[in-house]
Amino acid sequence: MALLKHLLFSFTIFIISFVFCYGSLQEDPLTSIYVHHSPSVDDGGTLFKNFNKQSANVLSLNRFEKRGSLKKVNVNDYGAKRNGDTDDSEAFKKAWDEVCDSGEAILVVPKDNYLLKPIRFSGPCKPNIEVQISGTLEAADDPSDYDEDSRHWLVFDKIKNLYVYGGGTLDGNGKVWWENSCKKNKKQPCKDAPTALTFDSCEDLTVENLNIENAQQIHVSFQDSENVKVSGLNVNAPEDSPNTDGIHVTKTKNIQISDSVIGTGDDCISIVHGSKNVEATNITCGPGHGISIGSLGAGKSKDVVSGIKVNGAKIFGTKNGVRIKTWQGGSGSASDIKFQNIEMNNVTNPIIINQNYCDKKKRPCQKAGSEKSAVEIKNVVYENISGTSASEVAVKFDCSEKFPCQKIKLQNIDLACEGGDDAEALCNNVDKLSYIGHVKPRCSKE
Ligand SMILES: *[C@@H]1O[C@H](CO)[C@@H](O)[C@H](O)[C@H]1NC(C)=O
Ligand SMILES: *[C@@H]1O[C@H](CO)[C@@H](O)[C@H](O)[C@H]1NC(C)=O
Ligand SMILES: *[C@@H]1O[C@H](CO)[C@@H](O)[C@H](O)[C@H]1NC(C)=O
Repeated sequence: MALLKHLLFSFTIFIISFVFCYGSLQEDPLTSIYVHHSPSVDDGGTLFKNFNKQSANVLSLNRFEKRGSLKKVNVNDYGAKRNGDTDDSEAFKKAWDEVCDSGEAILVVPKDNYLLKPIRFSGPCKPNIEVQISGTLEAADDPSDYDEDSRHWLVFDKIKNLYVYGGGTLDGNGKVWWENSCKKNKKQPCKDAPTALTFDSCEDLTVENLNIENAQQIHVSFQDSENVKVSGLNVNAPEDSPNTDGIHVTKTKNIQISDSVIGTGDDCISIVHGSKNVEATNITCGPGHGISIGSLGAGKSKDVVSGIKVNGAKIFGTKNGVRIKTWQGGSGSASDIKFQNIEMNNVTNPIIINQNYCDKKKRPCQKAGSEKSAVEIKNVVYENISGTSASEVAVKFDCSEKFPCQKIKLQNIDLACEGGDDAEALCNNVDKLSYIGHVKPRCSKE
């Protein structure tokens, strides 16, 4: 009897601990982020720390065990000419169909040059697929090749559990589009150009170690996706290339971007409507326009973003450092935002909120106090931000009179002018601004 009791007791404990461990893995939404093993995930701050330690090992073990058995589907075996001059799109499409239809397979792009017209790598696919890009993919640079869809070059869509990696290069050959952009050539109508690499409606996605350069417009876009891990991206385009955002995040939940170096002609990272739980760590930006939340509320839209954390960034010679930008007349909110551990070097607007953005060319700007709505901005923390400002105003909060920014915290801030002079902070319409520790500059008007 005693033995039976003992057994029953042990069994109960076993069941309880099993349920407990399994349950705790399930309930934290962040733990559902798929993580491929990466030695640097630990500098992602506290948010992801425990999860990384526990589950990354399990997941990478699974991945590792499967890896050896994945079927390799080499684009060269499907007729790719790989001389960089002949269109290889058909070979890529055929190889992709094979990978997607069979599952348990890797699309292999060896170290050669491939010329590609716009391609959609669409799912749904059978499980376990990878894309290993070691070579260079060159975008066709005749805009008429993009007649069917002038907004995209390479698209991965509707795929679950996709892993893209390989150290190769995607070259958007964007020069033709830049020259014809209305920002460069005022005679041209303003038209959107292709995004080099788009992930649309993907779930459990990992993108690692790729060079993406000279995009026609945006370099990499994540949209309508969930549980995304991005690391080791090198994004590069000239400072004067128009609208060439580095990484663009829209309607995407649970995305972690880390260990990436981004220098372009526009935003380093832009996070827009419908994005939630976005974390960026160890990011180097410059040149370009810095890290931006927004713009939000354009064309009177209702936009919501929340749970954004930028932790660990070096920002050099950019127009903005960390920015929140919303249009007059919009609605919705940007909330629970943290900018931490950021080094600024000669940044024109290191810390900036512009809640009153308007384009005078399009319509007259509303008078302060007459706003009917605004994208509300609340709970924003700036912590451990230091370095230099290229302008006298290192901190600028330009918030709406009727819908002030709420709960802004500045903690351990040390920003001076590039030449060494003291910098200023200009603050309009901030409700509950708090300072913790050393904060310089402080608002002259609160
Ligand atoms: C930060 O990212 C850079 C560039 O990818 C990388 O070389 C470096 O090792 C990363 N630092 C840490 C602490 O992971
Ligand atoms: C700082 O930035 C300004 C404006 O962007 C530029 O003119 C200046 O040369 C830069 N200074 C240094 C030391 O890089
Ligand atoms: C800010 O810096 C201090 C001192 O280096 C450090 O103790 C603290 O953890 C940092 N804060 C964050 C959020 O990393």
